[in-house]
Order: sequence, then C-alpha cells, then structure tokens
Amino acid sequence: MKEAVVSELILNAFEARTKSYCPYSGFAVGAALLTESGKIYRGCNVENSSYGATICAERCAALKAVSEGDTVFKAIAIVGAPKKAKEVKDYAYPCGMCRQFLSEFASDDITVIVAKSIDDRKIYKLSKLLPEAFSSDSMK
Ligand code: THU
Repeated sequence: MKEAVVSELILNAFEARTKSYCPYSGFAVGAALLTESGKIYRGCNVENSSYGATICAERCAALKAVSEGDTVFKAIAIVGAPKKAKEVKDYAYPCGMCRQFLSEFASDDITVIVAKSIDDRKIYKLSKLLPEAFSSDSMK
C-alpha cells in the first residue's frame, strides 16, 4: 500500500474521530475505510444509553460502505483516544466483533492501520488479527 494512501486514510480517521458520539465511555474512535472502488468511508463510534446498542467506528464505516453498494474492502485506518486527550497516546485495535464484521467484506485480505499520528502507525493484515476466521466457507 502506497505511503500517500496510508497517510490519507489516517487523516480521514482523525477527521472521523471528531464526530464521535461517546457520552458514556468518553473514548472517541474514528475509522476510514477504503473500498475497491477507491472511495473512503468515514465512521465514528456512536454510543447509546442502552450500552449494548453502541456501534463501533469500524462497523459504522463498514455499514456506510455496504449500504452504498461498496462491498469489497481494501484497507481501514483506526484512531482512538479519550475524547479530551490532546494527543493519541496508544494504538486502538479493532474489537473482535469488528474484526469479524470486516472479514465478511474482504475479497483477498484487508490492510488494518492503527495510528497515533500520520507517522506513528502500525500496519497489519486482517488475517493476522483474525486467524482462522469463521466465514461462509465454514458452513459448506
Ligand atoms: N470502540 C470502537 O469504536 N471500536 C473498537 O474496535 C473498540 C471500541 C468504541 C466503542 C465504545 O463507544 C468505546 O469505543 C469504548 O469501548
């Protein structure tokens, strides 16, 4: 993946994070999802007073893409930190449910970027973060 694309995704994840609705946890997450079409979909975590109804940033972005007909995911960048934090001190890894959700829309594999800044980031393949994933093949 080209450096410019990685940087663009991280910038979009930071921008998405500014929209986080997280009055309960105070933890703001932003995600930027690149699809095969070349479009970038932003998502943020959207919490709910019924806590279990909360949607993570990654699934928010994924739902936006799929509902627009973009069902082949290439890469996603994720940024998470307490809402009030002046800087992002840790990498925010996707939760198990989001890893599973993303894997549904991987044609080959998905690049997962976790970032503290444009320059401070780690890059993985989803298959490494979710080995032996359950998929439609598992039901054959
Ligand atoms: N969260 C995400 O947005 N993505 C993840 O992968 C993990 C957790 C959100 C959900 C909740 O609003 C807050 O972070 C604290 O768990």
